[in-house]
Amino acid sequence: MKVLVTGGAGFIGSHIVDKLVKQDWQVVVLDNLSSGRREHVPQAAKLIVMDVASDDLTEVFKTEQFDYVIHLAAQTSVPASLTDPENDGRINIIGTIKVLEAARVSGVKRIIFASTAAVYGSEAKVPIIETDVVRPASFYGLSKLTVEQYLRVYKDLFGLEYVVLRFANVYGERQGDTGEGGVISIFARRILAGQSVNIFGDGNQTRDFIYVGDVANANIRALTAPCSGVTANISTNTEISVNKLTEVMGKIAKCQVEKTYLAARNGDIYRSSLDNSTAIKALGWQPETDLDAGLVKTLAALKM
Ligand SMILES: NC(=O)c1ccc[n+]([C@@H]2O[C@H](COP(=O)([O-])OP(=O)(O)OC[C@H]3O[C@@H](n4cnc5c(N)ncnc54)[C@H](O)[C@@H]3O)[C@@H](O)[C@H]2O)c1
Repeated sequence: MKVLVTGGAGFIGSHIVDKLVKQDWQVVVLDNLSSGRREHVPQAAKLIVMDVASDDLTEVFKTEQFDYVIHLAAQTSVPASLTDPENDGRINIIGTIKVLEAARVSGVKRIIFASTAAVYGSEAKVPIIETDVVRPASFYGLSKLTVEQYLRVYKDLFGLEYVVLRFANVYGERQGDTGEGGVISIFARRILAGQSVNIFGDGNQTRDFIYVGDVANANIRALTAPCSGVTANISTNTEISVNKLTEVMGKIAKCQVEKTYLAARNGDIYRSSLDNSTAIKALGWQPETDLDAGLVKTLAALKM
């Protein structure tokens, strides 16, 4: 079976591609390398360097005849979506419509879409379930939510199967220090360089940190699980405070972490965790890597 991974040279995408290749899938990566890296794509996968919003996309789908698509390529920064909503919409909405049209025309069976906890907005309760109110507080969250609705209509009108995965804060090896959920990546680099970490607010704000290998497993499960039309949080259902995170990272790095507390940022949510029972039931998936184990791998990769 042949699968296209858009954004497959990026942080999450490259972990998915590694696992697909190991499981003998035929893998094609389409990525414009704006943040992704060519060297993160294994030899066994074919890399097409192209923008998802390109008019040449239909031709690629026609030639390659993909069975499945995992669509990750995106503008991933919340602040960038606020300063340049047009670019966010061009990549995240128009780019995705192009992927959907090309998928429909070429007869793709199913598309897996990388959505986000940012669709819920800043008023969400804890833990968040998928049927809770969606009220994105950024254009990034809004563009992801818009695509979720396009997927529903494509399925209703044309029978194109889809699974929406709303990721919590993903962390792990190869994560950059921009875009979504990069706090662990930023802290890890500073701690290893012996620098202090900046904490916005009192540090008791919580997040749900999910290891990238577990996110990759969820995407691969979603390809074939009998769950078309499902929207599922991909998370640990656990709240970790930023203070606790810093303490655990310090212990693993065997150093005392200096913390600098700064004013809380406007629009940052205080508590966050996502219920993951839908994913457990619908995908037959569950997170396997706890925070300590995931942080050990993340810090070790940065030391190399
Ligand atoms: N990292 C997180 O915590 C997190 C949380 C929720 C959702 N997501 C979503 O997961 C997906 C992957 O995110 P990531 O953290 O791996 O980010 P990333 O920046 O590492 O990966 C994105 C990839 O897409 C590519 N890309 C960007 N714009 C493109 C375009 N116009 N055409 C083709 N390729 C393009 C980049 O080069 C990169 O390889 C994104 O859709 C993101 O919104 C990530």
